[in-house]
Amino acid sequence: MDGTDSQEVFISNWEYDQAPESQDHIKIDKRYGLFIDGKFEEPKSKKYFQTTDPANGKVLAKVAEASETDVDRAVKAARKAFKKWSGLPAKERGKYIFRIARLIQERARELAVIESLDGGKPIRESRDIDIPLAANHFFYYAGWADKLEYAFPGRKVKPLGVAGQIIPWNFPLLMAAWKLAPALATGNTVVLKPAETTPLTALKLAEIIRDSDLPNGVVNIVTGAGETGASLVRHPDVDKIAFTGSTAVGKFIRKTIAGTSKKLTLELGGKGANIIFEDAALDQAVEGIVNAIFFNQGHVCCAGSRLFVQESVADLVISKLKIRLNSLFVGDPLDKNTDIGAINSKKQLETIRKYIEIGKSEGGQIYQPDCTLPKKGNWCPPTLFLGVSQSHRIVQEEIFGPVLTVQTFRTIDEVIEKANNSPYGLSAGVWTDKGSKIFHLTKKLKAGVVWANTYNKFDATSPFGGYKESGFGREGGLHGLKPYIKFE
Ligand code: NAI
Ligand code: MG
Repeated sequence: MDGTDSQEVFISNWEYDQAPESQDHIKIDKRYGLFIDGKFEEPKSKKYFQTTDPANGKVLAKVAEASETDVDRAVKAARKAFKKWSGLPAKERGKYIFRIARLIQERARELAVIESLDGGKPIRESRDIDIPLAANHFFYYAGWADKLEYAFPGRKVKPLGVAGQIIPWNFPLLMAAWKLAPALATGNTVVLKPAETTPLTALKLAEIIRDSDLPNGVVNIVTGAGETGASLVRHPDVDKIAFTGSTAVGKFIRKTIAGTSKKLTLELGGKGANIIFEDAALDQAVEGIVNAIFFNQGHVCCAGSRLFVQESVADLVISKLKIRLNSLFVGDPLDKNTDIGAINSKKQLETIRKYIEIGKSEGGQIYQPDCTLPKKGNWCPPTLFLGVSQSHRIVQEEIFGPVLTVQTFRTIDEVIEKANNSPYGLSAGVWTDKGSKIFHLTKKLKAGVVWANTYNKFDATSPFGGYKESGFGREGGLHGLKPYIKFE
């Protein structure tokens, strides 16, 4: 916790242009406490859990498990800080948020390595996507802090109070940024709970927040598993819950707070349809298919996990796709050549394997390239399922892994019907040369985000969120401010 009790991790086979040699050692403390009221503290529970590296099973650190009493302390600290924080001139709040963004940039390399170590994602993704986008999110909302009167003309905007935020393990730092930045810009104080398999970058963010001189108690970070999250949800002095994670837990949270005055936003699962028309630039589309499903091992709520290819080009696209799959490198997340890293946890690997068995037993034809997987750790090769239909469970249910179902279609109406035949409504992709088709589909597809001739592109200025079982509320852009304010 104090830096003296830390271990060093040597990073091999990863060069970073701007980084001096001396930074090749990343410090991870052996033990982390809870970040409450501006400092790291022992949990009253005295309990710790381990976070491991999913690529080899090694323990990275012990992390405090916050009990109900610990969560209560964090909420009290947030409540105490609320008056001061919400009363600051808005431009002062913006300056603090800007400073957090700058500090993330300064420590980007360290954060990227830790993100890949703790969660298993390829370093190329942590370095080029997760960490820069996290910094951008803080920059973007720092800019909104003193412009709320322009965002909501003629209305007097007030913060809600104390926000409880619960985040998942697939984009640990980025999800922390998505949650914290708009809450802070609008004058709320926060208790954030990271996921139990990936708490480390949130704890590094706690250090950054401490170093940014943000007033004590404005952000509190309590680590732990589901029970810690449930304590936060139940706490009577929390005004708002923002949750990203499974649909099952989302529904449970909704039930728990029903009848209270707590506000809620839920960002849950998905089963994105990725639609390839015969007039698309096919090589580009094949790259898009690969990125849509294998980005972050498929641990992505908006992953393009259902592929629909127009029948006239289906054989060609599938053969190109198989060739591309054969060239994907599955392995060490810290190797800059890795395309698919480690599956985040044993539990998630079991879920994925279970779905692969279900897919086979339902009659799907599996295709997996012949790749050598590392002996230790959690791994899954890129997987295609051909010959599947709408009623198959692997087409309907979220797998959250590198598994793609492939279906064909003849007409635009048929594919709209198939794409919308899902309990989820988060994302979709459309690949075509015709702008008219894109506009038609963006209207017809029941998805919060529709990408055209691209996939998995994120930007702080764009709202993100779903329909149906994918949840409600939007994050990002002007829309992302709304879940954290009330009008006077
Ligand atoms: P989860 O929903 O259990 O975990 C997400 C977060 O919720 C974690 O921080 C966890 O500690 C917390 N949590 C768990 N139970 C809670 C409770 N009762 N009250 C409050 N907080 C609670 O997700 P899990 O089990 O890790 O993954 C299961 C499936 O969920 C995945 O296979 C995937 O389908 C989906 N998922 C979707 C995500 C998304 O981005 N929408 C992210 C993570 C998982
Ligand atoms: Mg871990």
